[in-house]
Amino acid sequence: MVNYVHPSATVGENCRIGWFSVTMENVSLGRDVTIGNNVTIYPGTILGNGVTVGDNSVLGKQPRPAKTSTVKIDGELPPLVIGDNTTVGTGAVIYAGTIIGENCLVADLASIREKCTIADCVIIGRGVAVENQVTIGSYTKIQTGAYITAYTIIEDYVFIAPMVTTTNDNYMGRTQERFKYIKGPTIRRGARVGGGSITLPGVTVAQESFIAAGALVTKDTEPGMVYKGLPAKLARVVPPTEMLKTD
Ligand SMILES: CC(C)(COP(=O)(O)OP(=O)(O)OC[C@H]1O[C@@H](n2cnc3c(N)ncnc32)[C@H](O)[C@@H]1OP(=O)(O)O)[C@@H](O)C(=O)NCCC(=O)NCCS
Repeated sequence: MVNYVHPSATVGENCRIGWFSVTMENVSLGRDVTIGNNVTIYPGTILGNGVTVGDNSVLGKQPRPAKTSTVKIDGELPPLVIGDNTTVGTGAVIYAGTIIGENCLVADLASIREKCTIADCVIIGRGVAVENQVTIGSYTKIQTGAYITAYTIIEDYVFIAPMVTTTNDNYMGRTQERFKYIKGPTIRRGARVGGGSITLPGVTVAQESFIAAGALVTKDTEPGMVYKGLPAKLARVVPPTEMLKTD
């Protein structure tokens, strides 16, 4: 078998599908889609025009949480949708129930869980883990190895440096009470979060805040300010030359 395309799948003009790839029921591939080798595309997944998918990637997988997982899933989630001209790298895994916009890059080995909404022109870097129910605004860049916890809200033009850790549960899996308080961080427009920093549950990183490398963000920050250290303390203002242009 060179590859398998279910008869109910729709394949647009000029698509190329690599060796040993499986395109399942009701998948829709737009025009000029390129699928690498050994890719699995689960039922109903919709790929827009010009989407490229690297070898060994898995698209539209339904979550199967363990009995002991915090996340509970009732029934099938709606299919994964990927917008025009988005590129998915090699060995990426993207779940059902997620929507990704146009002109995005999901780099090699990245993983995006269910019920995420990712806007246009977003970069999800190599090996980044995006957990369930995360929202990411347009032009945001998330660099190699960052961990984006469930329920995080990231707005437009945010920069998340390599190996950033976000967290959402101060009870670390203990007590029933924790379900009332689980909350991811909110990272506002244009904020920059430095390499290896940690953001605690429910914290808001304000618009254009700058979190220094290695900082521990325990409290909400002020817009346009730099924070450093453990715990992170206000250090100085962000220079005007580094602020997003407003025009
Ligand atoms: C915040 C940052 C820009 C340095 O800021 P700065 O104001 O220029 O700091 P300076 O180098 O002038 O150092 C001022 C003081 O802060 C300390 N300091 C610098 N960076 C620090 C950090 N990240 N955490 C804690 N202390 C820091 C310095 O040791 C120095 O202390 P001292 O006065 O006791 O000697 C830098 O630490 C940083 O976080 N860069 C981001 C790197 C990154 O994550 N990039 C992502 C893409 S790779």
